[in-house]
Amino acid sequence: SQATLLDALERPMRDLRISVTDRCNFRCSYCMPKEVFNSDYTYLPHQALLTFEEITRLSKQFVSLGVRKIRLTGGEPLLRKNIESLIAQLATLRTPNGEPLDITLTTNGSLLARKAFALRQAGLKRITVSLDGLDDYVFRQMNQVDYPVSDVLQGIAAARDVGFTSIKVNMVVKRGTNEHEILPMARHFRGTGATLRFIEYMDVGATNGWRMDEVFPSQKVMETLRSEFELVQLAAHVQGETAQRWGYADSRGVHDPALGEIGLISSVTQAFCSDCSRARLTTEGKLFLCLFASQGHDLKTLLRSGANDDQLANAIASIWEHRSDRYSALRASGTAADAPSPSRAEMSYIGG
Ligand code: GTP
Ligand code: 5AD
Ligand code: SF4
Ligand code: SF4
Repeated sequence: SQATLLDALERPMRDLRISVTDRCNFRCSYCMPKEVFNSDYTYLPHQALLTFEEITRLSKQFVSLGVRKIRLTGGEPLLRKNIESLIAQLATLRTPNGEPLDITLTTNGSLLARKAFALRQAGLKRITVSLDGLDDYVFRQMNQVDYPVSDVLQGIAAARDVGFTSIKVNMVVKRGTNEHEILPMARHFRGTGATLRFIEYMDVGATNGWRMDEVFPSQKVMETLRSEFELVQLAAHVQGETAQRWGYADSRGVHDPALGEIGLISSVTQAFCSDCSRARLTTEGKLFLCLFASQGHDLKTLLRSGANDDQLANAIASIWEHRSDRYSALRASGTAADAPSPSRAEMSYIGG
């Protein structure tokens, strides 16, 4: 077998995040602010999108180079027609050891009640739902399209009902908007089997008007939680994980698995670039090496010009070998440009 493919900072490629659409039915201010993503905004035309066959063919090459986890994102991935048939195709892929992949999806939950069964049937293993608060007013403030929180909660319930046992809930905390939802969210999901994860508001893209004073640091999240709950730190599952894991303790101060766990994703205050093993494939087939990159590497042209599997895999490998991105670490050390580059890709395009 081959030696492990490593980038210039000796990081393997383990995780492939595929954006399947640049569209979304929400307008979260930290991601697709309405002033920018309005009726004048031009999304990718249909012929620019990779087909499911193309996505699967590329994924196969990524898997041959070390990828073990595939996450479908967007935009809102459930807006892509027949997404379940892509999942079914990806579910047929095997690692060099003959094992199936860890396939997961990040959704805003709005279409989940309708789609959960088909997703499960197609072979999706687990699911992550974004939810920024339980209070209906606060939730509508976050999604900016007056979407009710009850539908998302129904989506989560539906996912559980069809057999998803590994459900994560992602909450982006924006100071001044939803930090008072931290405790209600924790109370709500504690003991339900869902893992609630708090994400620091990040300076992704160039349109969200990010300011450091709107970041609610994970340490503050922790202080808030500790005012009510006892938590114990848990070990990382795998290297390069985004979240620090904490478990709810029982009366003896020991983690009680039945109460579940929470996660803290601190990309602003505690960068996790040093073992970042994530590659990103955009809806139109560009390979991005960092969430904060301005440019990607076009794989679609190569694919559509008739390249064979080896040529595709070699192209991906040589791009990865040259990778030295570590934006969050540089931002933390003060060496990244303070102002976001106006050309930096949007998260809805590059994938969350
Ligand atoms: P699992 O834990 O395996 O479910 O996956 P994950 O930790 O990658 O989870 P998820 O995809 O839900 O990512 C959570 C959030 O972390 C994303 O929505 C981003 O906000 C942030 N994130 C994920 N990957 C990166 C990354 O490479 N860099 C930075 N800065 N943030 C990331
Ligand atoms: N900062 C942090 N998280 C973000 N997400 C989208 N934009 C940002 C941002 N600026 C999160 C969403 C979702 C995932 C796809 O990324 O809330 O959980
Ligand atoms: Fe849509 Fe998710 Fe972005 Fe919100 S964060 S606008 S739900 S893609
Ligand atoms: Fe990886 Fe870039 Fe995020 Fe750092 S900032 S963890 S290198 S995607």
